[in-house]
Amino acid sequence: MNIIVTGGAGFIGGNFVHMMVQQYPKDNIICLDALTYAGNMETVAPVLEAPNFQFVKGDIADRDHVYALFAQVHPDIVVNFAAESHVDRSIVHPELFLQTNIMGTGVLLDACRKYGIQRYHQVSTDEVYGDLPLDRPDLFFTEETPLHTSSPYSASKASADLLVLAYHRTYGLPVTISRCSNNYGPYHFPEKLIPLMIINALHDKPLPVYGTGENVRDWLFVKDHCRAIDMIIRNGTVGEVYNIGGHNEQTNLDVVKTIIHTLGKSEALIHFVKDRPGHDRRYAIDPTKIRTHLGWEPETRFADGISQTIQWYLDHRPWWEHIISGDYQQYYERMYGDRA
Ligand code: NAD
Ligand code: DAU
Repeated sequence: MNIIVTGGAGFIGGNFVHMMVQQYPKDNIICLDALTYAGNMETVAPVLEAPNFQFVKGDIADRDHVYALFAQVHPDIVVNFAAESHVDRSIVHPELFLQTNIMGTGVLLDACRKYGIQRYHQVSTDEVYGDLPLDRPDLFFTEETPLHTSSPYSASKASADLLVLAYHRTYGLPVTISRCSNNYGPYHFPEKLIPLMIINALHDKPLPVYGTGENVRDWLFVKDHCRAIDMIIRNGTVGEVYNIGGHNEQTNLDVVKTIIHTLGKSEALIHFVKDRPGHDRRYAIDPTKIRTHLGWEPETRFADGISQTIQWYLDHRPWWEHIISGDYQQYYERMYGDRA
């Protein structure tokens, strides 16, 4: 099979590409990625020489380029990870999110219609459901929870989901959608909570916790997410949405303290800073559907996954040092300069 993976130079797409190239030597994995600030050829490097891997630099919203690639490759499956993914950036530059996350998805769907595919899979997010109150631990997101978004990022992802489902109903395109909770693990870009806190703590820099740190996220090790997507594209039912999550809710403050203690640092590094506008309070996934329909279960407990992740950042300093020496520092100043 020929499988186009968009956004494969990013965090989750990169982990997915590594898994697919290794696990399915007879499939050809073609990574289409625009290499935005979040795309990194050093993430792709471990598979670059593999005979069943090809890297193509390009924008999913560039219709001519996408059509030419489909005409050349004739993909059987398309898995769309490509997106602007950071909520804070979406608050500053929403237009970039509309362009890639909505228009880009539309171009990919049109290419799938034009050239024909067995499956289009949209990698979505639990953020499309909005948030849950902190004082109702009995509530979870199911696939039936109404879409109710908070940020330009989540609104753009929800728009893309609606487009994907419309192409299924109107044109009969064979699609699936997955909505996963917060991922963590290797190759996570250091603008997101966990890698940012690991790297700042290693440098004894302040750890900027938004608001009171009581917001709750439902953390899943990235490899468990990648396995779930593989199961959906092979055995999932066309037209269906699958939530992915491992019932691992933690407050941000608890996550930050775990990182501090693992690295042997002081809690005095914690700095409470101005809250994110529209900050979602709690995410919590009900994964009953994917467990009962496809037999998926998370394999990595948070205690093991976070230790492995911290060790990965200790063992792969060049990967994140190269990021920090580039665009990232200007970004950091812009985002955190006036929060102190
Ligand atoms: P990321 O920001 O690390 O990577 C995004 C990748 O997409 C980068 O390689 C970037 O270069 C590429 N890209 C961006 N715009 C592009 C364009 N126009 N054309 C081609 N490539 C482009 O993101 P991530 O955290 O790996 O997230 C991947 C997907 O998973 C996203 O769709 C995101 O919404 C979804 N998701 C993320 C999480 C999470 O916790 N990170 C959880 C659930 C769902
Ligand atoms: O739930 C899935 C989503 O998880 C994905 O769709 C997004 O692409 C991904 O970025 C992530 O969104 P979050 O906003 O939850 O992730 P982030 O790492 O930005 O923040 C996690 C929590 O930590 C959130 O409550 C905000 C808080 N935070 C974040 C940063 C960067 C801080 O307190 N301080 C920080 O410096």
